[in-house]
Amino acid sequence: MKTYIIGNWKMNFTVGESSLYLHKLLQKVHAYRDIEVVVSPSLVAIQTLSLQTDRRKIKLAAQNFYHRDFGAYTGEVSISQLRSLVDYVIVGHSERRYIFNESDKDIRAKVSAAIRDGLTPILCIGETDTERMFGETADVIRDQLLGGLQEVSAEDLTKCIIAYEPVWAISGHDKAAKIASPLDVEDAFKLIRGVLKDTYGKSVSEDIPLLFGGSVKSTNAESYLMLDNCNGLLIGGASLIAPEFTDIIEIAKRVKDGRTKN
Ligand code: PGA
Repeated sequence: MKTYIIGNWKMNFTVGESSLYLHKLLQKVHAYRDIEVVVSPSLVAIQTLSLQTDRRKIKLAAQNFYHRDFGAYTGEVSISQLRSLVDYVIVGHSERRYIFNESDKDIRAKVSAAIRDGLTPILCIGETDTERMFGETADVIRDQLLGGLQEVSAEDLTKCIIAYEPVWAISGHDKAAKIASPLDVEDAFKLIRGVLKDTYGKSVSEDIPLLFGGSVKSTNAESYLMLDNCNGLLIGGASLIAPEFTDIIEIAKRVKDGRTKN
C-alpha cells in the first residue's frame, strides 16, 4: 500500500499565493511511486492548480462539496463539477462537523457521491476533548466510521481512505492543541481496523489506508508513520510551510523504504 501525505490548506492562501506555493512544492517534491502526495487548496484555486500541477508528483483534493450532481443549490459546488479537477475529496472533517453542523447523514451522502463519481473520499473521524474525557472515544470512532460508511459496499470500501483526527489534537482556532501520543493513535487505528473487519471482512479491512491527522510536524511525523497500522498523514498547519511539508514527504519515504527492506 502507498503512504499518503495529504496537506489540508484549509481557508488559507489567495489563488495567486496557492499557485506560487504549488510551484515551489513542485520544484522540491520528487515523484515517488510509493508515496502519494496530495494538497487540498481552497475551492477557488482548484481549477488553476489542476492545470498547473504535475499529477505524478502532487494530486489535488477538494475540502468540501455538495452531494448532489446539479440543480438549484445556490452557492454549492457538486462532485461532478470537481471530477476532472481533483482525485480526492475530504469528507467529515471536524471543522465541517462542528463549525458547519454537518451530520453523519450529510457525510454519508458525500461519501456515496464521491464513490459514485469516481473520486476517493478521505473520511475524517475523531472524538472531541470532552468525549475523550468521558471515555467515549471508542463509541465516537465506531459511530462516525459506520455512520459515514453506511451506504458503502465492501467492494467500494477499497475506494475509501479513513483519517483519524482527534479534534483535541488539531491545531488552530482558539486553543493550543495537545499532541496525540503514537500509542493512542495506534489504539484508535486498531479499533478502526477491527470495526472494518467485523463489518466488511478481514481482507478488505486490511486494504484500507488509515491516516493520522492532528498537529503533525516534521518533528513528530516519524513517530506516527512508524506505527503498524499507519498508512499516512493528513496535515494542516505544517502543510502551509514548504520546508515542513517537503521534509515530512522525505521522512515518509525513509520510513517506507525501511519497512520494505525488513
Ligand atoms: P493540523 O490540522 O495539522 O493543523 O492540526 C489537521 C487537520 O485539520 O486536518
